[in-house]
Amino acid sequence: MVDDAVLEQHVHAATSDAAPDEVTPPVSPGGSWTAARVGWLRDFHHGRRAGLDAPAGEATWAIVVDETVVGSVRLKHTDEPDLLETGIWLTRRVLGRGLGPAVMVAVLQQATVLGAARVRADTTAGNAAAPSVLRRLGFTLTVGKDGHDVQATVSLLPRAPREHQWTNLERDTVLSAGNRLQS
Ligand SMILES: CC(C)(COP(=O)(O)OP(=O)(O)OC[C@H]1O[C@@H](n2cnc3c(N)ncnc32)[C@H](O)[C@@H]1OP(=O)(O)O)[C@@H](O)C(=O)NCCC(=O)NCCS
Repeated sequence: MVDDAVLEQHVHAATSDAAPDEVTPPVSPGGSWTAARVGWLRDFHHGRRAGLDAPAGEATWAIVVDETVVGSVRLKHTDEPDLLETGIWLTRRVLGRGLGPAVMVAVLQQATVLGAARVRADTTAGNAAAPSVLRRLGFTLTVGKDGHDVQATVSLLPRAPREHQWTNLERDTVLSAGNRLQS
């Protein structure tokens, strides 16, 4: 869950060091941060505090490294009961260090604990990093007829190893990828 304090750090991380189009939909014209985009970001996380099983059907977490928010990850129910959808963004300063794949591994483990059989991530063919990261994690990529949209899906093992199961993650304030993955 992203509480008020974490949400403000989140907004700071996004607006100071992430591309608006990687964080929010195009709620305002142009590629820069606007009040509309920041408002969308606040409303989005605020509306998902109740977790995956609340009406929004989605949970979000901040990604924290050295006590600083450097991105966000989410899991969302889909129309298919055993399929969860995920999305992630990171600040520019932490790109290219393997953090994204590490967080995705943690998210896949969490999805397994939540009973999902598959996880889907939507990206685009022109995305510089996501397709190769997803492929390396075992996702199968399907390019849409428009040659632009890419849907990536991975099947999960039936059960996460006991030592990797996270309890009460939805109630956590932050997802600390480094700490979690070392434990
Ligand atoms: C996708 C994403 C989470 C990957 O995270 P990451 O921690 O940078 O992943 P990696 O460290 O494994 O690097 C991935 C690739 O980016 C490259 N990279 C390195 N430094 C980079 C930089 N400064 N900027 C962009 N890409 C960089 C790496 O060389 C690597 O390339 P390769 O796959 O050809 O080897 C991250 O790029 C991101 O937040 N992108 C914007 C949002 C997005 O696309 N989300 C995915 C939607 S599902």
